[in-house]
Amino acid sequence: MTSILPHGGTLVSRLAEGEQRDKLLLAAGNNKSIAINTWTISDLDLIAVGAFSPLTGFLNEQDYHSVVQNMRLADGTVWSIPVTLAVQDDVAASLTVGDQVSLIGEEDGVIYGLLDVESIYNVDQNVEAQNVFKTTDPEHPGVSKLLARPSTYVGGPITVLNRPRPEKFGEFYFDPAETRTIFAEKGWRTVVGFQTRNPVHRAHEYIQKCAMEVVDALFLNPLVGETKSDDVPANVRMKSYLVLLENYYPKDRTFLGVFPAAMRYAGPREAIFHAMVRKNYGCTHFIVGRDHAGVGDYYGTYEAQQIFSNFTAEELGITPLFFEHSFFCTKCGNMASNKTCPHSSEDHMTLSGTKVRGLLRDGKCPPPEFTRPEVAKVLIEGMSQEVTA
Ligand code: ADX
Repeated sequence: MTSILPHGGTLVSRLAEGEQRDKLLLAAGNNKSIAINTWTISDLDLIAVGAFSPLTGFLNEQDYHSVVQNMRLADGTVWSIPVTLAVQDDVAASLTVGDQVSLIGEEDGVIYGLLDVESIYNVDQNVEAQNVFKTTDPEHPGVSKLLARPSTYVGGPITVLNRPRPEKFGEFYFDPAETRTIFAEKGWRTVVGFQTRNPVHRAHEYIQKCAMEVVDALFLNPLVGETKSDDVPANVRMKSYLVLLENYYPKDRTFLGVFPAAMRYAGPREAIFHAMVRKNYGCTHFIVGRDHAGVGDYYGTYEAQQIFSNFTAEELGITPLFFEHSFFCTKCGNMASNKTCPHSSEDHMTLSGTKVRGLLRDGKCPPPEFTRPEVAKVLIEGMSQEVTA
């Protein structure tokens, strides 16, 4: 069975193995080094396993400017989020183009990989913020992260020598090559990817199941890398996905695997990025609902859908499935959106994230039309552990 092509045509692999790895590790101790944080370690690993294909490393200067200005790599391939390595000025000053540098975990001292320095460049982070996040407001969680980094970037291809080990739920980590094999073995010709950084509430379930009516299977692919502190922690979310799948989804048509990336909160641009990455994992379709990857009021409700019209279907290579804001309608007695429901907003059950979190924190289940009781129970337990921790 032929599966969907990775973005750019080839699944990138930058993992050193066997003797080659031993040799590189031995030499790595003598290299100059750059300390990298958890976020960069996750980017590094995702590049190495091909989740970010066609990237083979951190963006060099030419690709960086092209991505920031045009949402394309310098060769024209669609790419909307700059994946970069920021370094302190004194470290940058010690580097020369052509160096092979060791990338070392700042907390654990592990040599995660090597970078072949292709370019060292200074950027205007306000321009990056404005183009990528559509704002320079430091209150925006993505912008605040960006502005906290040094403004000198080092780009070039990477090689991974050691991989980060998940602390929990290790059985749900799959590399793109693995998910591609699994989907093919299951005989799925069409798979819809679902990105989430939240528990799966009824609206999420509704749009997933609408999509499942027209494709072979659902790849529930929650993002479990760094998120902002008021998002529900990944460990709690994972338990909630498991009870939901167990009770309400067909086992032979759903697959759960995590996306260990950091959340950027870049709204429209991140929707494109999320879609390209899911193509690399082997999805043929990708769900984009209301305010995908948004935060606060920075993006219009459907901006993350509209941005797809900048690209041709061939350039994207994965089919986005757009869904309107969904809710439970008390008059219809089912989940719906304004496309399918004639009733007024008074009949629609919508709860803000803040309201739901408040209910859960008080140990109260949100209405079952909003959250499945099994899911609410897990979230309440998770929240109480958070409070007592
Ligand atoms: S996101 O930051 O990962 O996009 P979230 O986990 O809330 O946030 O959303 C996951 C997906 O579900 C996104 O595509 C989002 O647009 C969609 N979505 C979330 N809530 C709704 C809703 N009520 N109606 C329609 N789509 C929704």
